[in-house]
Amino acid sequence: MFKPLLVGNWKTGVSLPPVAVGSTDALALAKDIVANAGELAELIDLAVCPPFVYIADVKRILSGSGVAVGSQTAAHLPEDAQSKPVTGEVTPFMLRNLITYAIIGHSERLQHCGEDFHTTVAKFKALAAGSNITPVVCISESGGALSDIGKSAAQVREQVKSLLEGYKFEDKADAARPPFAIAYEPVWAIGGDKPASLEHVRFLTDAIRDEANKRLTGSLLAADIVPIIYGGSVSVDTAYDLATLSNVNGFLLGRASLSAEQFIQIGESTLKAHQSKHTS
Ligand code: PGA
Repeated sequence: MFKPLLVGNWKTGVSLPPVAVGSTDALALAKDIVANAGELAELIDLAVCPPFVYIADVKRILSGSGVAVGSQTAAHLPEDAQSKPVTGEVTPFMLRNLITYAIIGHSERLQHCGEDFHTTVAKFKALAAGSNITPVVCISESGGALSDIGKSAAQVREQVKSLLEGYKFEDKADAARPPFAIAYEPVWAIGGDKPASLEHVRFLTDAIRDEANKRLTGSLLAADIVPIIYGGSVSVDTAYDLATLSNVNGFLLGRASLSAEQFIQIGESTLKAHQSKHTS
C-alpha cells in the first residue's frame, strides 16, 4: 500500500540569491520546508522539483529530512541517438543518483517545448529501463465542461493505454517506492483560481484507475501501489475535499509549492483525508 504523495513543481519560479524579481529563493524555501515538515515527511511521500541547475544545492539542504528531490523533466533520446552526443540533454542515467522522482509530460512542456504524448511515453520507458527514478507521468485533457466529461475520459484512457502498453509491471512491484505515479492534470485548471470540480476529478481519476487496472496485470496490486495524484490550482482551502476522493492519492502542486507553509498544510490535509478514507 502506497503512502499519499505530494510533489511540488517549482517550475521556473525560483532562483538562488541574489533572487530575481518575482522569484522565490530556492534555498530559503528548502530550509523552510525542512524546518516545518516534522513527522509529515515520514507519514506521506514529500518531494520538491527544482529546475535542474538548483537540484544539487536543494538536495544538500533536504538531506536527512525525508523530503525527496525530483526533476521537472528528463531527456528521452531517440533510439538512433542513444550512443551519440546530444547537446544540452540531461538523461535518466545522469540523474539516477541525484533524484528520486521525475515529472514527465507536463502540459507546459507539451505547449512550449515541442513535446507530445509520444515523447512522454518515450521518457517513461527510458526512466523505467535506465534508472531507479519514479516517473510522475502527467495525463492531461482539454475538456472542461461537465457535459464533455465523456470525451475527457476517452482522452485520459487513451493516454494511460499508450503509456502502459508493454510495461512490465511485476518487475517493479516489490520496490519500496511506487514504480510510477500518474498525475491527472486538466490543462484548463492549471494556473487558475480554482481546481476542477470534485465531480470532474472523481470521474477522471476513476477512469484513470480503471484503465490502469485493465492494462496492468494483477489489478488489485495496481490499485495498491500506483498513486494517482491531481494537479491544477490546488490550494490550502481545496486540498482536503479533493484528497477524500477515492482515487486521489495526493497532489502535484505548482504555485502552492512555492510557500513552505502552504506546501506543508496541503500535505497535512492530504494525510488527514487519507486516514479518514482508510478508517471508514
Ligand atoms: P498550479 O500548477 O498549482 O499553479 O495550478 C499546477 C501544475 O502545473 O501542475
